[in-house]
Amino acid sequence: MDKFRITGGRALKGRVSISGAKNSALPCMAAALLSPETVTLHNLPYVRDIITQRRLLEDLGATVLTPELRTHKISASHIELFEAPYDLVRTMRASVLALGPLLTRFGKAKVSLPGGCAIGTRPIDLHLIAFEKLGAEVKLEAGNVIARAPSSGRLIGGEIHFDKVTVTGTENVMMAAALAKGRTVIKNAAQEPEIEDLAELLNKMGARMKGAGTPVIEIEGVEALGGAEHTIIPDRIETGTFIVAAAITGGELEIKSCRPEHITAVIHKLREAGVEIEELNQSTLYVRRSNGGLKAKDVTTEPHPDFPTDMQAQYMALMTQAEGESHIVETIFENRFMHASELIRMGADISISGNTATVRGKTKLMGAKIIASDLRASASLVLAALCAEGETLIDRVYHIDRGYETIVRKFRSLGADIQRISESIAIAADAAEAHTK
Ligand code: EPZ
Repeated sequence: MDKFRITGGRALKGRVSISGAKNSALPCMAAALLSPETVTLHNLPYVRDIITQRRLLEDLGATVLTPELRTHKISASHIELFEAPYDLVRTMRASVLALGPLLTRFGKAKVSLPGGCAIGTRPIDLHLIAFEKLGAEVKLEAGNVIARAPSSGRLIGGEIHFDKVTVTGTENVMMAAALAKGRTVIKNAAQEPEIEDLAELLNKMGARMKGAGTPVIEIEGVEALGGAEHTIIPDRIETGTFIVAAAITGGELEIKSCRPEHITAVIHKLREAGVEIEELNQSTLYVRRSNGGLKAKDVTTEPHPDFPTDMQAQYMALMTQAEGESHIVETIFENRFMHASELIRMGADISISGNTATVRGKTKLMGAKIIASDLRASASLVLAALCAEGETLIDRVYHIDRGYETIVRKFRSLGADIQRISESIAIAADAAEAHTK
């Protein structure tokens, strides 16, 4: 497994461009299963999860052409398989997004139940309850979800009220309802920008949905959907990660190709904490730490438009460099503080009680050998290492490759001392080190 070797203490400077949003690209790729015609997606991030999703589509029988690295032309005219197998679902939970499109277009789908993951149990019960509300018969058999449309072959529109806001649940139901018979209303829907982006694509394909981005989404089902061409929105979490990178290293960055309006809660909180964030235009931010330094500020993660859980770990790293005591409350996932113990290994002063982490700062971080546990935790550890004294070795960085495009190259272009060490080199280095002792 690859590692990152980072020597901290350099203030990052320069320009960085944000890639497409992984969490929009995944449902948009799944949406191509809804139509026999070609769906062309531009600005796809070149990250491992997109490669996995592509593999899933091809396993189902779709063809995926790549005229250029970040553009896919997906054609689902000959789908032969209606199953997302365990091997794929366990590597990427978002594979469950194939369930809605397969069920509504072909009347059947089999998807492996995604097990838990590092950040929580993450059930999909709300997805399944919703499909039943649309008339599907849903069974769990041998670790798989087996769903069938009513004998008419089409799902039937209905009212869905999610007990809890769920992003992929909302997306799965939007796609299922697009081809259902009649009208569907989703209440307590997720409002993330990725939901709006998916709705924009679906409407381009001929769907009739409105209200995406609000708690109530209304969908008039249609008989069939056509092809479309769509550009994926920028990744708001990558944007937030680079804002924190500028602030935590005491640097200054121009962040390009982003959408500030998608992260207003993050920008608001970071400004409160002493980060200067200027919107140069609709897609460019200028960021630096204010002269007064960083101040500890409490935060609670909530569904959009509030502070996103996917920025919690990065924010915790920043709070280790802020004056005072901050309280970080995680309300979305029950086990999303795995990064805290690694930050403590670097010298941070953090205590956890239930879903609240208390961070006391400012503390001097020292380089250490640490392990990444999930995608956003690994981003947090990279940020901490960039401001730590000395060298840090981060193991299991395959997590970060799932959702950050060419992260080493981007940070190096901003002056960071970071390198990827592939496993073979790491083993040799360890052996050499052991030999000198
Ligand atoms: C999406 O996951 C994102 N993933 C996650 O980003 C993100 O953290 C999460 O939304 C919350 O914003 C993608 O979009 C691919 P949820 P999702 O369903 O849809 C519970 C990243 O770092 N729940 O909104 O799986 C669930 O356990 C990833 O890029 C049920 O109980 O999250 C959680 O506590 C990590 N039953 C809460 O709801 C269900 O059927 C929110 O989960 C569904 C969810």
